[in-house]
Amino acid sequence: MVTPSDIAIGRPADARGALPAVSLIVPTLNERDNVRELVSRLDRCLTGLDWEIVFVDDDSRDGTVDVLRQLSRADHRVRLLQRIGRRGLASAVVEGILATTSPVIAVLDCDLQHDETLLPRMLERLVASDCDVVVASRYMQAGGVGDWGEQRQLVSRVATNLAGLLLRAELTDPMSGFFMIRRNVFDQVVRRLSNQGYKILLDILLSAPHGLRVEEVAYTFRSRISGESKLDTVAVLDYLALLIDKAIGHVIPLRFVMFACVGAMGLIVHLSVLASLNRGLGVGFAPANLAAAMSAMTFNFFLNNMLTYRDMRLRGFWPILRGLVSFSALCAVGTAANVGVAVVLFEQKYTWWLAGLAGIFMGAVWNYTATSIFTWRNAAPADQQAPTAPALLANPAEPAAVSSAAAPLQTAMPRQR
Ligand code: GDD
Ligand code: MN
Repeated sequence: MVTPSDIAIGRPADARGALPAVSLIVPTLNERDNVRELVSRLDRCLTGLDWEIVFVDDDSRDGTVDVLRQLSRADHRVRLLQRIGRRGLASAVVEGILATTSPVIAVLDCDLQHDETLLPRMLERLVASDCDVVVASRYMQAGGVGDWGEQRQLVSRVATNLAGLLLRAELTDPMSGFFMIRRNVFDQVVRRLSNQGYKILLDILLSAPHGLRVEEVAYTFRSRISGESKLDTVAVLDYLALLIDKAIGHVIPLRFVMFACVGAMGLIVHLSVLASLNRGLGVGFAPANLAAAMSAMTFNFFLNNMLTYRDMRLRGFWPILRGLVSFSALCAVGTAANVGVAVVLFEQKYTWWLAGLAGIFMGAVWNYTATSIFTWRNAAPADQQAPTAPALLANPAEPAAVSSAAAPLQTAMPRQR
């Protein structure tokens, strides 16, 4: 007899040994010319299986959504989750999964680079080996990266090795975007995910409290024929951010780490401008220092806007000007707090460096908390804001996700912090 727990873990759901139902999650960003072909290929290779596809689209502007709606109207197994004002492969996949209920979930790209004919075998392996995740690997003996250039191969290798430092599970391709996972396993990790950037599988593996049982199957990454890759330098930064968050995120929020790193770079800008004006050009110390502070502040604002707060980046002349003014004003208060705390501690006989460090810490915490509330939190229009506690105290890993099983789905999501 099949028990509810058998179904929950994805064991064969009936006495004839039928395989469990699978929800395929496919993130899309400008993939108009690939979606139709992907659906027809999946339809062919999944014959006999109980499947559905949820496309999660981040407001593609090339007509992808129109094609998806047509497909969805013609076939109820094809569904669309449309996100507006959002970006990010990992969070798209998570929200797609949350909108489904099958005991097994498969994730694959829309651009036909992942070999979909592997799916039935992946499902059989998941059930037969009773493992948690089946990963399609480019780096096993029989796998391959197709026509990748040397630079991309190198980046991928370095990233894979870096991940190996944190991973407990043994696998050759933790960076794969093509995998199958049991729903109950996903449910155990979903609240711990960083949701950072591109690498959802790695995020899942690093978030599992006891390590996961992983099986791999080999495949060769195909070339992209239509559309273009969205992986860019920001994706590399996102990747590093994910690793940092997984390594120390439970102690210090990732955003604060980034904010502090930008602050440290600002210090270098400050000293360089001061040296060139005062030492080099002979400008008096006070005006040179003022100019240095303003340059550093401006530099910090733009870098934070680009990196630390890239998910809620201020755009357009007035929002940026308003942001710069509020950032500078708040940081001026932070500097006053920094100096004040340091002086008070120094007068209470703390060593100079301890008093100095405490001041810096105080200033940094103030700057971070205040600017996260007043400079960036106001970036989203009122109806798009997440009602959250001050950023430093809150957990940045909490996904701003919805769960729904209605089809087709359309949501205007609140922006993530
Ligand atoms: N919804 C959404 N939002 N989809 C996105 C986003 C986004 O911000 N960025 C990319 N996508 C979609 C693309 O439309 C495509 O279907 C898929 O995610 C992969 O994007 P690509 O830009 O083609 O990635 P890639 O080929 O360079 O890398 C992929 O394959 C590697 C090997 O498996 C990714 O899956 C990597 O994570 C993976 O390592
Ligand atoms: Mn691709």
